[in-house]
Amino acid sequence: MDVRARRAIIMTSVIVCVMLSASLILSTYANYNSFGPFRTLLYSDWITCDHNKNMEVSVNETQVFFYDFANDINATSPIDQAVNIISTYNLDVTRRFIVFVPGYKSHISKKTEELIRQTFQNVPNTYLIIFDHSTYTTSRPGKLKGYERAVYHTYYLGKAVGKFLTELRRKGVPSRNIHCVGHSLGSQMLGYAGSAYINATGEKLWRVTAIDPAGPCFSNSLIEEQIRSGVAEYVEVYHCNAGGLGTTSVLGDADFFFNYEGAIQPKCNPGILPGKGESDAAKCSHKACVRYWAYTVHNPGYFLAWKCDSYKEFNKGRCAGNEVTIAGRPPAVKQAHIRKG
Ligand SMILES: *[C@@H]1O[C@H](CO)[C@@H](O)[C@H](O)[C@H]1NC(C)=O
Ligand SMILES: *[C@@H]1O[C@H](CO)[C@@H](O)[C@H](O)[C@H]1NC(C)=O
Ligand SMILES: *[C@@H]1O[C@H](CO)[C@@H](O)[C@H](O)[C@H]1NC(C)=O
Repeated sequence: MDVRARRAIIMTSVIVCVMLSASLILSTYANYNSFGPFRTLLYSDWITCDHNKNMEVSVNETQVFFYDFANDINATSPIDQAVNIISTYNLDVTRRFIVFVPGYKSHISKKTEELIRQTFQNVPNTYLIIFDHSTYTTSRPGKLKGYERAVYHTYYLGKAVGKFLTELRRKGVPSRNIHCVGHSLGSQMLGYAGSAYINATGEKLWRVTAIDPAGPCFSNSLIEEQIRSGVAEYVEVYHCNAGGLGTTSVLGDADFFFNYEGAIQPKCNPGILPGKGESDAAKCSHKACVRYWAYTVHNPGYFLAWKCDSYKEFNKGRCAGNEVTIAGRPPAVKQAHIRKG
């Protein structure tokens, strides 16, 4: 990746507006009209959002990929056996455990997972764990069927991730060393995972980073069905395609909105073809979010974020004097939490 080119793009066009206060933003999106039929479809009655939590749904085909780059080790195991297998590798529980849960249509061999592997390859004192839940979250023929099925599995997958983390805790990994990172539907799973972890251990995960949490089927659902402040010591949320594939909800201890209301990223403008062009543009912004966050891992302090109630205010320069914070991974184990207010 050409870092200088990236920097040029980012310097000229990526600005970040941070919401530290959860309730003020809600009306901001009302007059945002540049989404067409694709967005309308995603939020229409055509899509059935099943959040039933009372079924016997097994997600045991989920695979867990474990990477100890420092010792050139990687291991793959089905979720139910994952902690037992991982713990045979002489775990150093003082390391940070980065647990990445990807979204709809993800797979361990895709670019997002590769980006995350590359990002953490050289980070010292870190283990990386990546979930592959593609058995339950691949696309399916037919209008939105694959997404509906994935949404249906979100709770069960989230609980299974929570159980995995609980078992890891019981092997001696302290909660303060567990950092979960979710993209899209994976972010929503982490709401359930964090809650299940609290219920089982009485402790909170150190941190959850939610990258453009899935919007369709979630932005209008109950808060208990979404990633949110309280499910970890610190929950940060990144918004890059708000109102499209990503949620518009302000959910975390800090919510970072990248560019244009966190809705459209540079070079991701909808093309001239309606429908298709719009959906590609949405995916482009939705994925850019993972790159932004991954970039902060080696460049902490790169994205400055101003506390602000709306992009409009931000754009008018009305927040220039407000509190400034940094979007991204904190440099050390201990960090100052950004709190609402
Ligand atoms: C998952 O559960 C099913 C049904 O109990 C079983 O047949 C299958 O072997 C299990 N798969 C794994 C990977 O454990
Ligand atoms: C996992 O380890 C094997 C060797 O045991 C290696 O061939 C393979 O490339 C590794 N995979 C990744 C993703 O690092
Ligand atoms: C954790 O416990 C609370 C309170 O009983 C419950 O409402 C919530 O659903 C539980 N979370 C999970 C993921 O089971």
